Amino acid sequence: MTKTVHPLPPALGRPDPATFRDAMAQVVSAVHVVTAEGPGGRVGLTATAVASVSDSPPTVLACIARASRTLAAIEASGAFCINTLPAHLAELAEIFASRRGIDGDARFMTARWGTLATGSPVLLDAISAFDCRLVATHDIASHRILIGEVAGLGGAGQGAGLIYRQRQFGSV
Ligand SMILES: Cc1cc2nc3c(=O)[nH]c(=O)nc-3n(C[C@H](O)[C@H](O)[C@H](O)COP(=O)(O)O)c2cc1C
Repeated sequence: MTKTVHPLPPALGRPDPATFRDAMAQVVSAVHVVTAEGPGGRVGLTATAVASVSDSPPTVLACIARASRTLAAIEASGAFCINTLPAHLAELAEIFASRRGIDGDARFMTARWGTLATGSPVLLDAISAFDCRLVATHDIASHRILIGEVAGLGGAGQGAGLIYRQRQFGSV
């Protein structure tokens, strides 16, 4: 007998939020920490809603909840860095997702950081790091889409990457 994990909604009906989240939980995502150097110092959050937009000029996007404390720092500095996590830094993802009761600069203490072009924190052990100037924003529902033009690249460029699927971290 097959087990239905998330029943499909009626064909013409809009799925409710929980059903939508269950469907998205089946999608494999890379895991990133999005950082900024704000007026109060370094801040960052764990994010999977990140994508490439264009290679000319190199452009990326990140969708950040408007309630996020990191968002204010990104907008104040006009810059952010997308740090794509290696598989061995799942605990860093937990910290930056506010699951360890650690806030502000203390979130940065368990890893090695530097800077590139914009001054946003760059994770030295990232798979890739995309140091961006904020060039546009667009509000949709609860989130703000940040468009960043890539001003610098960092990271190790190798090794296993951290993924998130079915509400668990994994490695690829
Ligand atoms: C795997 C995972 C992926 C997440 N992806 C996002 C995301 O793409 N955008 C977002 O705004 N929050 C995302 N979050 C939630 C934020 O990391 C979380 O709300 C964080 O505490 C916000 O911190 P801040 O308020 O200090 O900015 C994600 C959390 C986890 C665990």
